[in-house]
Amino acid sequence: MSEFRLQPLQIGSLRVEWPVFLAPMAGYTDGAWRSLCLEQGCGAVVTEMVSAQGLVRDHVRTGHYLDTWGEEHPIGAQIYGSDPAAMAAASAKVAETKRFDFLDINAGCPMPKIRNRGDGAGLMRDPAKMAEITRQVKAAVGGALPVTVKTRIGWCADTINVLETTAGVEQAGAEAIFLHGRVASVRHSGPSDWSLIAEVKRARRIPVIGNGGVKTAADVFRMVAETGVDGAMVGRVALGHPWLFRDIRDLAAGREPRLPSVDEVRTAIREHLRREMDLMARRGKKELKLGVELTACLVMRPHLVRYLRSFRGFGALARTLEERVDAATLLGRVDEVLASGRKSTENHIQ
Ligand SMILES: Cc1cc2nc3c(=O)[nH]c(=O)nc-3n(C[C@H](O)[C@H](O)[C@H](O)COP(=O)(O)O)c2cc1C
Repeated sequence: MSEFRLQPLQIGSLRVEWPVFLAPMAGYTDGAWRSLCLEQGCGAVVTEMVSAQGLVRDHVRTGHYLDTWGEEHPIGAQIYGSDPAAMAAASAKVAETKRFDFLDINAGCPMPKIRNRGDGAGLMRDPAKMAEITRQVKAAVGGALPVTVKTRIGWCADTINVLETTAGVEQAGAEAIFLHGRVASVRHSGPSDWSLIAEVKRARRIPVIGNGGVKTAADVFRMVAETGVDGAMVGRVALGHPWLFRDIRDLAAGREPRLPSVDEVRTAIREHLRREMDLMARRGKKELKLGVELTACLVMRPHLVRYLRSFRGFGALARTLEERVDAATLLGRVDEVLASGRKSTENHIQ
């Protein structure tokens, strides 16, 4: 029997056949990137965090954070805020789009401008409010969408209250919990506490999906085996490496994961940029001061760093990334980096 096994997962009315989730990451996980990950075998995706207040006020730019590229499924929309009424109204708007399969509440963002307003990780300091938001969001979507909560183990090392917060949201009707095993004060650094994730899994009846610290394809299965979680959510290690999701499927099928060829990397970058341009073309002229092409090239910058940093010629490209260039120029530079060869064949496969 293979040690690389995962079971399908039921989140309320939603069945997730392959419970390997791409983590929401602001500035990265738009439709272009998510759709590439789904095509490589990712089991489900989530939008980056979207402001509930922005949605309620019909803020045009906020609305674009809900844009999808093609048929992305299963997909969750993640919203953030701390006013229960606004969170409920925003959830109803998400449900009305009929583009999403679940609705996720952000209760873990540690960025000061978010958490200091009581949003994101700020909710962990007020477990009663976290539960009340869950209750009102559930009522607002009226069963149209399963409701999940993504949170952390606590605010800081001295205030670990994840058993309390997750009990509250479970009682309030949440249908799954995404649990990042770090406290908010460390943001994204240091180890993720998988033993606490295991404790929460044992304490809750609803599914718990573990997050934090997955560095290789094999780690997904290790996390599931060590903690008993119902699925795994993968963040940074997949950036610039959508093939991680192929690797995970390969391990499960008894195949050896393999490094993407240089041609595969080139094709992915070109396709990624093309999809970014598609997404940008939906925006109004007022929103895009630089136009579709230049904006799409700017959006690609952090991704290019991830796709290409293991290539010898990356340093030269990195020095020019601040320049505003059109797609042909950017792709020409990308080709030069790809032609320089990899520094080593070491990648995320271990
Ligand atoms: C650049 C960046 C942006 C992020 N944005 C979000 C977000 O919008 N919503 C959210 O719930 N978590 C966000 N996160 C946290 C990730 O979803 C995830 O919990 C974290 O990166 C830990 O997983 P990892 O160790 O696999 O990267 C972000 C993380 C990073 C690095």
